[in-house]
Amino acid sequence: MKDERHMSAVNTEATAPPMRVTNLSKSYGAFEVLNGIDLTVDPGEIVAIVGPSGVGKTTLLRSLSGLTDLTAGEVVIGSEKVTGPVEEIGLVFQDYRGSMFPWMTTIQNVAFPLEGKGVPKADREETARKCLADVGLEQAADSYPWELSGGMQQRVAIARALAYDAHILLMDEPFGSLDAQTKLVLEDLVIDLQRRLGISVILVTHDIDEAVYMSDRVVVLNNKPASVVDVVHVPLGKEREQIATKSDPNFMKARNRVMREIMGQ
Ligand SMILES: Nc1ncnc2c1ncn2[C@@H]1O[C@H](COP(=O)(O)OP(=O)(O)OP(=O)(O)O)[C@@H](O)[C@H]1O
Ligand SMILES: [Mg+2]
Repeated sequence: MKDERHMSAVNTEATAPPMRVTNLSKSYGAFEVLNGIDLTVDPGEIVAIVGPSGVGKTTLLRSLSGLTDLTAGEVVIGSEKVTGPVEEIGLVFQDYRGSMFPWMTTIQNVAFPLEGKGVPKADREETARKCLADVGLEQAADSYPWELSGGMQQRVAIARALAYDAHILLMDEPFGSLDAQTKLVLEDLVIDLQRRLGISVILVTHDIDEAVYMSDRVVVLNNKPASVVDVVHVPLGKEREQIATKSDPNFMKARNRVMREIMGQ
């Protein structure tokens, strides 16, 4: 599969601030989901988080984003402790249906959140247009959500986060509802955005191949309450290509190690 956007010049200059998570624990009432999670995300890294269903991956992402209070520990972005929702962070979820306002066009959907930030109308539109181009959707600027495929709607969700000036994308199973081919194209899009814009990405996924293919490191969560049982460095360099990378012996080694840990072997 040849993707022109993936061939664009690589800009490895990271724009994202570092994220540091120390001793994070999260309980719902007496039910302890996460216990003593330590995690760092360096500027410009893609870090995948994997673990069995129900282990606490979504809870961890919500905790990182400031959407939910921590029971213990802290999340620091740059030099700021996270105490609530942060502009630096953009969230993209699995379910793209309902993520756009149906009465607004694509460009209006991307520009709308900027209104709350006090960005003037002309600037909102210019930023939205640029971010739609970043995700390859400039042609769909005036389309309504029902005219877009699932993959296109997920691109809009990414463009919206970029327009809001998020430098750290938190993605929760972002390609889980897409068909196999679209999923591969969007994996490459996110890799390409990281390379071009210098953002950091934290990707939660059930798909171990996807985790290894896209990331610099794979963080494996397991046990109840969940803790980090392994951090697998992916020695594949920054250039990734679906067929070549997945045929690399280092890819298979990393994939098998992660798989064993998830299966508790
Ligand atoms: N708001 C909540 N109140 C109480 N319990 C919750 C809440 N949200 C999640 N849980 C519980 O916390 C645990 C972890 O849930 P979470 O959604 O984080 O898992 P997950 O790893 O994302 O699962 P999946 O892979 O299925 O998406 C589950 O046992 C879930 O029932
Ligand atoms: Mg989840």
